[in-house]
Amino acid sequence: MSNIQQTLSIIKPDAVERNLEEKIKAIFTKEGFNIVKEKKIKLDKSDAEKFYKVHETKPFYNDLCEYLSSGPILVMILEKEEAVKNNRILMGATNPKDAEEGTIRKKFGISIDKNSVHGSDSPENAKNEIDFFFQN
Ligand code: CMP
Repeated sequence: MSNIQQTLSIIKPDAVERNLEEKIKAIFTKEGFNIVKEKKIKLDKSDAEKFYKVHETKPFYNDLCEYLSSGPILVMILEKEEAVKNNRILMGATNPKDAEEGTIRKKFGISIDKNSVHGSDSPENAKNEIDFFFQN
């Protein structure tokens, strides 16, 4: 049975800064993701804190929020069969040094913080994250 889903993808400041947006979008498109909506924005730190609230108890929370709000990001809604899972496979492991060959983080990630892309980790979080950025 088909299960077309939407997921939220962010091209993070390290990748936008290196002009990798078009390259990364081309990877998503080539892998069959439809980019339903996109917008380039710069978050305030308080927006980043809201977005990453699930991580608020983690030791890396403050640095993570500082980083996500440090420069422009490209936020996208991606659509595909099993989009949440397939996007996470395509991104690769959170830490680029553990990411599989051919994944976005292996190709472009610099460090666990500057790992170039974010993707929702469950269908429920995908819905929340899409609403966070694209509430009409
Ligand atoms: P992301 O998928 O955007 O979700 C949370 C981010 O926290 C993650 O990517 C990493 O960039 C960042 N992060 C920093 N340190 C860690 C860590 N020890 N474990 C998991 N994520 C981390």
